[in-house]
Amino acid sequence: MTASDLTVGPARRGVLASAVGAAGAAALAGWTAGAPHPAANDPGPDPRLAAAGATRPFRGARQAGIADSPQTYAAFVALDLAGAVDATVVRRLLTVLTEDIDRLMAGRGPLTDQEPELAGVPAALTVTVGIGPRVVAGVGAPAPAWLAPLPPFTVDRLEERWSGTDLLLQVCANSPTTVAHAQRRLLTGLAPLTTLRWVQRGFREPHEGPGLPMRNLFGQVDGTVQPDVHGLDEALLWCGGDQPAWLREGSALVLRRIRMNLDTWDQVDRLSRENAIGRRLDTGAPVTAPPGADALAPPDLDAQDSLGFHIIDDGAHLRRAHAQAPHERFLRRPYSYDDPPAPGELSDSGLLFAAFMADPVRQFVPVQQRLAEKDLLNIWTTPVGSAVFAILPGAREGEILGEALLA
Ligand code: HEM
Repeated sequence: MTASDLTVGPARRGVLASAVGAAGAAALAGWTAGAPHPAANDPGPDPRLAAAGATRPFRGARQAGIADSPQTYAAFVALDLAGAVDATVVRRLLTVLTEDIDRLMAGRGPLTDQEPELAGVPAALTVTVGIGPRVVAGVGAPAPAWLAPLPPFTVDRLEERWSGTDLLLQVCANSPTTVAHAQRRLLTGLAPLTTLRWVQRGFREPHEGPGLPMRNLFGQVDGTVQPDVHGLDEALLWCGGDQPAWLREGSALVLRRIRMNLDTWDQVDRLSRENAIGRRLDTGAPVTAPPGADALAPPDLDAQDSLGFHIIDDGAHLRRAHAQAPHERFLRRPYSYDDPPAPGELSDSGLLFAAFMADPVRQFVPVQQRLAEKDLLNIWTTPVGSAVFAILPGAREGEILGEALLA
C-alpha cells in the first residue's frame, strides 16, 4: 500500500488511522519505505480497508441507508421512550440524534466521543431513523394507516422480544467496528430518554467478489429481482402526497426476523433445493433459463415439463413472491444473521428481512399473505419477529430529523 492508496473519500485522516491500527505503525512505515510486505504470501489487508474513509451524505430530502447500496454489516437497534411521549421529548430526542448521526456519518463522532479514532473510519456508515405509532400519536400528528403491526400470518411464530418499538436505528457500515462504535455512541446519547429493547445484528456481502450478489445462509443468490427505485419505480419506495405531510420523502420499513433451519435444509438434495426457490444454486438463474444464463435471466412461469407440470414449481418461492400487480413490489435490503445457538442446537441463523416501501399494507401484505398460504421455503423458514416503522424524511441543512413531524 502506498500513500496514494490511502486517499479514498474525504476522511483521509481516518483511513490512515485505520491502516495504522490494522497493520501496525512499523509495518506501514516498512511498506512506504519500499520494504517487502511483512507477510509476503498474504494477499494483504482487507481491500475494504481502502474504502474505510468513504462517507455517505447525511443531509438531504431523504435518509441514507435505503436506496443506496447495502453495506456489509448492520445493526437494527430498537428503543422505547422511557416516559410519557410528547412533542418536547420527541424534539429533544431527534435533536440529539440528528447531531450525533450528522457527525458520525462524516467520520467525526459526537462531541462526547471518547474514541474519536473509531469514528474516524466511517466506512460508508449510514444511520437510518424510524419511529413507531406511539411517537406519532404523542406529538399529535396524523398516523398513516399502515403504521401498526402486520396482520397475523399462519406461518408466524412471533416472539414478543422482536416486536415493534418507538424508535428504530438501522446502523450500517462496511466495518463491524464502525457499526459497534456508532451504536454505542448513539445509545449513550439517547440513554437519558430511552430504554433499549433489542438489537439485531446482520451481515451480507458479495460473497464471491466485488460486484457479485449476496448469498444468504441457504447458499442462494438473494436480492436479484428488485424494483427500479432510482427510476420508474421511485414511487414504490418513498411516501408521496397520499400520505400525511410529515412523511413526504420518508418511507416504511418492514423488519421480519425469519429463522432459517440450516439443519433440516442440510437434509435436502440440490435439485429439491433449487425446486423450492425456482432458481439454480450456482448462478441464481431461473430453473427455466438455458445453461450459462445468469441470475438476471427472466423466469418462464408458464414453461412445462413433458408431463405437463410447471418447471417452476407451483409452490416455488419465486412464483409465490412474484408480484401479481405492479404495486405488489418493494425494496428488499436483507441481512443474514448467525447468532450463538441455544444449548443443544447447532445454529440460530436466518434473515433480517428488511424491506422498504411507501405503504406496507398495499405493497407487502398481499405478497406475505401469498407466501403464508403456500411457499415451499416455509418448510425451512419461520418468521419469529415482525415490526413496522415509519422512516422519517431526511434532514436538510439546518433541520433536525422529523422537522415536519414536529411542525
Ligand atoms: C428466510 C426467508 C427468505 C428467503 C431465504 C428468501 C430467499 C429468496 C431468494 C433466494 C429469492 C430469489 C432471488 C431474488 O430475486 O432475490 C427470493 C425472491 C423474492 N423474495 Fe424471498 N426469501 C425469503 C423471504 C421472503 C419474504 C418474507 C418475502 C416477502 C413477503 C420475500 C419476497 C421475495 C420477492 C418479492 C422476491 C422476488 C420474486 C420475483 O422473482 O419476482 N421473500 N427470495
